[in-house]
Amino acid sequence: MRRTGCIMVARKGERHTSPPIAMTEPTYDRAYWDGRSGWEPIRAVLDHRDRLGKKNRYIDIVQKMALSEWYEAEGRVLDLGCGTGRFTEWISHRSRQVIGTEISGGMLRSARHRLPGGEFVLYDGQSLPFADETFQAVVAVGVLQDIPGDDAYVSLLREAGRCIERGGRLYLLDQVSDAAGRPWRTADQVTEACALAGLVLERRRPVRKGRWWLLYLIRYGLVPSSLLERVARWELSLRERGPSRISYYMDYLFQLKKA
Ligand SMILES: C[S@@+](CC[C@H](N)C(=O)[O-])C[C@H]1O[C@@H](n2cnc3c(N)ncnc32)[C@H](O)[C@@H]1O
Repeated sequence: MRRTGCIMVARKGERHTSPPIAMTEPTYDRAYWDGRSGWEPIRAVLDHRDRLGKKNRYIDIVQKMALSEWYEAEGRVLDLGCGTGRFTEWISHRSRQVIGTEISGGMLRSARHRLPGGEFVLYDGQSLPFADETFQAVVAVGVLQDIPGDDAYVSLLREAGRCIERGGRLYLLDQVSDAAGRPWRTADQVTEACALAGLVLERRRPVRKGRWWLLYLIRYGLVPSSLLERVARWELSLRERGPSRISYYMDYLFQLKKA
């Protein structure tokens, strides 16, 4: 469980002792992320129970594969909630300039270690310290999904939108669910919140299932590392074909445009 404000909210994969609660105040959970920041950099931002690191390696591959199919941003890009710099580094190979921003100083230390010449900015989790229309694109992976409360959620989306130039994009990769009693938003709720923030959906796609039989085999080292890319390609094609209902959670990629 993690503490957000004075209310306990279940982290993904944990049982709740109380139902998810819509909160109106933003929560930052800086201490939680600082506490993880010294770990191995992928484990720090993905599944901390993945002791062999195979599942996290797979998630890293499939997320980057999905994003690379749509990503178009040659100019200046913001990696919002950059964590240990997993996507900051990836963006640095594709765009002229990338800035990583975070609420956690520990995460930024780890990101700087990964990308020594990189630009990283610590901020308060609410007001992005950048002028309007600074970026051609913002990338946010696994960040907004954890913000409880619709007001705080839309408010951070608005901040992201404010910093994007007209015609620029937000690439949002987050966990979504259709299942009642789970802490995730639905893909439609994410899309609607983005629209409230002035970000228009261009396309969206399921990327990865939170529970998948093959993921268990990967996790326990029963799938050779050399096959992970092939499995990722297969999973992307499977997810595109459905099913439409999500009983646990699904990683979803949203491409949104600032009108
Ligand atoms: C699951 S990690 C993902 C990190 C990175 N995007 C990745 O995919 O590797 C979530 C990160 O978001 C950061 N975070 C949480 N709330 C934030 C906020 N309001 N603004 C910016 N970063 C935030 C956390 O400190 C944490 O490093």
